[in-house]
Amino acid sequence: MQWPMMPRARLGSVAVKCTTATVGLLLMAAVTVMATADQEPTQTATTSRGKILMYPYVSLGKNSHIVNFVRLAKILRSRGYHVHLLIGADADAGSWDELDQIFDVVHLYPSANRSDIDIAKVTLEWSSMSSYQFVLWITDNLLSQCEALLSRPSLLVDMQRERYDLLFTDFVNNCGRIVSDYLNIPTIAYSPAGFISDKALFPDLPSFIPVSPMSQLEPGKMTFSKRIENTLEYVAMNLFWFPQWFGTFQSLREKYQINASLDVRMSFLSALVLVRSDFVLDYPRPVMPNVVTIEGVFFDDPKPLPHDIATFVDGAGSDGIIVVCFGTMIGHLDRRRNEMYARVLARFPQRVVWRVAGMKPASLGNNTLAVDWLPQNDLLRHANTRLFVSHCGLSSTMEAAHNAVPVVAMPMCTDGFQNALKLTRAGMAFSLDFKTLTEDSLESAIWEVLNDQRYKRNAIRVAALLNDTLVPPRDKFLYYVDYVIRHGGVAHWQADVLQTMNNWQLFNFDMAALGLIVLMIALFIAGGVFWLSIKFMWQCWLAPKPINKEHAH
Ligand SMILES: *[C@@H]1O[C@H](CO)[C@@H](O)[C@H](O)[C@H]1NC(C)=O
Ligand SMILES: *[C@@H]1O[C@H](CO)[C@@H](O)[C@H](O)[C@H]1NC(C)=O
Ligand SMILES: *[C@@H]1O[C@H](CO)[C@@H](O)[C@H](O)[C@H]1NC(C)=O
Ligand SMILES: *[C@@H]1O[C@H](CO)[C@@H](O)[C@H](O)[C@H]1NC(C)=O
Repeated sequence: MQWPMMPRARLGSVAVKCTTATVGLLLMAAVTVMATADQEPTQTATTSRGKILMYPYVSLGKNSHIVNFVRLAKILRSRGYHVHLLIGADADAGSWDELDQIFDVVHLYPSANRSDIDIAKVTLEWSSMSSYQFVLWITDNLLSQCEALLSRPSLLVDMQRERYDLLFTDFVNNCGRIVSDYLNIPTIAYSPAGFISDKALFPDLPSFIPVSPMSQLEPGKMTFSKRIENTLEYVAMNLFWFPQWFGTFQSLREKYQINASLDVRMSFLSALVLVRSDFVLDYPRPVMPNVVTIEGVFFDDPKPLPHDIATFVDGAGSDGIIVVCFGTMIGHLDRRRNEMYARVLARFPQRVVWRVAGMKPASLGNNTLAVDWLPQNDLLRHANTRLFVSHCGLSSTMEAAHNAVPVVAMPMCTDGFQNALKLTRAGMAFSLDFKTLTEDSLESAIWEVLNDQRYKRNAIRVAALLNDTLVPPRDKFLYYVDYVIRHGGVAHWQADVLQTMNNWQLFNFDMAALGLIVLMIALFIAGGVFWLSIKFMWQCWLAPKPINKEHAH
């Protein structure tokens, strides 16, 4: 570790604070181990292929974002890159000792303590906290971390002196945009959470692309009223959300005079945007040339299961096992649901491996092994695994898909709903509503997926498609890192049309309006000509003779 303003002593106290933290933190630690189950060998090469600064997004504790970064850092270091980490000293990103080992250098900057939110609680009682409030909380959190960095200009100057070859930041880390502009170096913006609405980088066509990840809309299956809903979300996003999201960070940059004249919306324009996604499962959508999808980087060689779990799983016989896990953030459910799950799972001939952190349910069946932590990917890969009961976070979803394991999906929050829908669309999952779940519906869903062979067949097909890539995903990842460094960014792929054009132009509304006007003029002229010719004809041939007229009077 090195940081002029943060001597090691300070670091030590942070580490002590972390190790003596509450149950919540222990939980996070368990999660950490789980999430980093696939360890790459960490070896430091003698000659560096490049010096990379990783600036992740840290919010809500050790979540999938930082876990992704840690894994990528291991891969990069094993291939001879020097990888430094830039992170807030009070960021709840897991154990400092671990980070110290994974990165060549950890640059800490003083930051505010923001772990004042109970993630499991928020998730389980999702409805009680509106998603808007939640997003505001996250923005506020990111903003305070960003301010901690920008308010100390010497930190940025030191970063500049390091002369990095590449900034590797999180797509949702808006402060990464400011740092990228300041350092003015090639940048990769990685999105571990798949496609996130950003008008500037991914053409967002509300006619068929679901705008909100929480919505249960499907491309091509939106009725007229659903399209109204989606379009309204799109408009709200562009009128209210984006101006606020980018505006707050723009103000911050102006306040501290960090390249104040530049627009944060434009910052990632010449960056490479790496999106964790595969169109085998993901919804179809157009992307700009500087956007590259990548998936399967972490799907690597299996590791042996821990002894107790291995014995249990191997002894399951032909009935196989069911794996139950609700992701990194949700270690356990509430007491009532815990007991209900335990009762239902006890009714199956399969053996069950279930991750329940903390107190174990009283109704646990003798076929169920409740563990504080489980090596999810290795378990899903096991030949005896028949079924996965999951909350459908992106990592869990992809692990199930890669391993061809049918899923009983129980989405609870954020992108889980869409991930569950994607698996259901592919015919490898049965989706349940977590909020209204009953003992009966849970039991029949599990029987359904276990007994209907179509789920397994579809899962095998999905896995085969995911596996069939031009080059191994890890090589693809390393190629692009190298590519961006080699060519000093991807400005040549830059597609700023989406930012420079307004929606009026982008959707060709002005052309449609012009067409309409031309059409109206043409109709008007045609109508006039028609009317004149009728009048003329009337006067020439059909109009009564003046004599008759006089006669009539
Ligand atoms: C961070 O949180 C801990 C415990 O919640 C508290 O003791 C400490 O004072 C906080 N630090 C800051 C800088 O707010
Ligand atoms: C931002 O400001 C820094 C320091 O003044 C400068 O080195 C850098 O080139 C600027 N970035 C851009 C994109 O102009
Ligand atoms: C598990 O419990 C069931 C009934 O609840 C019983 O029939 C079975 O023998 C038990 N198995 C073992 C290994 O104890
Ligand atoms: C994945 O592809 C590799 C070759 O690229 C092949 O050896 C392997 O058997 C495939 N695995 C599955 C599960 O299809």
